[in-house]
Amino acid sequence: MRTKIVAGNWKMNKNMEETEALLAELSAKLPDTKAQVIVSPTFVNLAAAKRSLQASTIQVAAQNMHFAESGAYTGEISADMLLNIDVDIVILGHSERRAYFGETDELLAKKVKTAIEKGMKTIFCFGEELEDRKSDNHFSVVESQLKNALFDLDAEAWKSIILAYEPVWAIGTGETASPEQAQEMHAFIRKTIASAYDASIADEVSILYGGSVKPDNASDIFSKPDVDGGLIGGASLKSDDFAAIIAAI
Ligand code: G3P
Repeated sequence: MRTKIVAGNWKMNKNMEETEALLAELSAKLPDTKAQVIVSPTFVNLAAAKRSLQASTIQVAAQNMHFAESGAYTGEISADMLLNIDVDIVILGHSERRAYFGETDELLAKKVKTAIEKGMKTIFCFGEELEDRKSDNHFSVVESQLKNALFDLDAEAWKSIILAYEPVWAIGTGETASPEQAQEMHAFIRKTIASAYDASIADEVSILYGGSVKPDNASDIFSKPDVDGGLIGGASLKSDDFAAIIAAI
């Protein structure tokens, strides 16, 4: 049975006090759910988030990490530094990192490999640009993002992978993919994994949708058979909205 997951990607928002306040509000409003709930504050607030959530089922993820063990990588964070504060989930491949920091499929393959070696779970992000969809290339773009970054993994490693399909044209725009568009791509992703590996791996991997998920569209999107939850940006910064999205799964 696939795990249902609702994860909040806070991006570059909230100082430590705001982080603690938002997590206190969310903990008080957290609906009963069988879904795994994850929040992802910025690096400097991860330890505070872990402290705030030590009695909570809500889990904490980092928004990125480097693939190297340590060394001359100014401004970077290693897997061991995250594990040292008990953060063992990491978001990798977000479109903003690909766009603003030039992260390639090849670099992401190295980061995913390190996360697997360190026993971490990865929320792996991918998705097409608007022009890819307009030119009907969205399936081939998504397929190559998956193949280039993940298809060297062995079967066991896939147990540590959570996929997040985030069409770039839907991120932060209010232009949410329709539930049918999300289901079509998620089904394609699952079929692609099944043909590269086997049906059991494809059936087991959780595939989240991300891109303008809000309280008023979450249940329709989450109702689709191949949508296993969401990776939420803006709406995860408001406790009422994030709680409502969690209640929708
Ligand atoms: O990683 C999730 C994020 O990219 C989606 O952002 O604001 O469209 O929910 P948003």
